[in-house]
Amino acid sequence: MNFPHLFSPLKVGPYQLRHRLVMAPLTRMRAARPSLAPRPLNAEYYAQRATQGGLIIAEASPVLATGFGNPGVPGIYTEQQVDGWRSVVNAVHAKGGVIFLQLWHVGRVSHSSFQPGGALPVAPSAVPISPDLKTMTADGKVVAYETPRALLTSEIPGIVEAFRQGARNAMAAGFDGVEIHGANGYLIEQFLQSRSNLRTDQYGGGIENRSRLLREITQAAIEVWGANRVGVRLSPYGVANDSGEADPMPLYTHAIQSLNPLGLAYLHFIEPRSSGAGRAEVDHQNVPSAMVLFRPVWKGILISAGGFTGDTADAAIAAGHADAIAFGRIFISNPDLPHRLQRGFPLTPYNRATFYGGEEKGYTDYPAYDEMAPA
Ligand SMILES: Cc1cc2nc3c(=O)[nH]c(=O)nc-3n(C[C@H](O)[C@H](O)[C@H](O)COP(=O)(O)O)c2cc1C
Repeated sequence: MNFPHLFSPLKVGPYQLRHRLVMAPLTRMRAARPSLAPRPLNAEYYAQRATQGGLIIAEASPVLATGFGNPGVPGIYTEQQVDGWRSVVNAVHAKGGVIFLQLWHVGRVSHSSFQPGGALPVAPSAVPISPDLKTMTADGKVVAYETPRALLTSEIPGIVEAFRQGARNAMAAGFDGVEIHGANGYLIEQFLQSRSNLRTDQYGGGIENRSRLLREITQAAIEVWGANRVGVRLSPYGVANDSGEADPMPLYTHAIQSLNPLGLAYLHFIEPRSSGAGRAEVDHQNVPSAMVLFRPVWKGILISAGGFTGDTADAAIAAGHADAIAFGRIFISNPDLPHRLQRGFPLTPYNRATFYGGEEKGYTDYPAYDEMAPA
């Protein structure tokens, strides 16, 4: 058997996992339209990836209609969406998988064409994403990002409440827990980082204030689920969506230390070397390792993701840098990834052209490895 550390059991919150290979949250833009509810195709996709008693973190799902920046992304704020997710969860549970839902708000990583009433996207401050990065409108035009509208202080409790309701909805759908998306330059990270947060109220300024929204949202999810079924995802040193704190160490040390006493199920990092992997093939060189830097700060279960192979995942766990490793891109093209790594079977390469949107092609049509097939 390969990779004995990766394929050793791990308890995450109340869940006894049979191995430490996690499916990373992966936006695939294949929800039903216009309901933005998961549909049977989505249930089939997740069930294919749930066969070996591991943890799946389902794709980022906006908790509010203002939280979208892409078409065909599933939501978690209407009854129809909850019903759709329930079918996904039931299919995963039937295969023995454990599944958390990632709760999302994109903030300024949106365009008015996705916003209710054509309004501007909301953000901590009216700071646009660099014009060097482009986005796509709802009708497919490539454009620069707009300058977002800064949220009023009085609107922020509504954002926190939307995450609380999203957490409740995830529970109603039967999920095993939720992950707060605090990574990749989306709303929560926009609040965390000084380049996107110029606020002068209690949500801006020093690191304590910039971490406040993350803490309030996490606390709201804990009040719904209990701390041991809530995870948080962060991407210190990441550069996705024009993010990046000039000096990440004090900010993230503070943010992580303030999460420590809560007793969360886990903390989940995206390694900076793979920051932006959703958009392009990246391998940022000579960047720090989030797990190595912050392992000494974080007192609970640590999951890391980003450019791992079976070898590097096993080594990271053996060295104590992480407790579990999440895989993204190669889980797209290898529905039976744990089985293949464990048995040393070859991996199917992924096709980036079918990552986002479409039907079964590049989604549910990647086969499991057939040991009997002629080579
Ligand atoms: C198609 C695609 C969609 C993604 N969607 C999400 C997402 O919804 N939420 C999130 O936190 N990260 C998302 N990511 C980042 C992955 O979870 C993961 O951190 C990244 O792909 C690096 O891991 P890998 O090298 O194993 O692919 C996405 C990445 C890809 C390639």
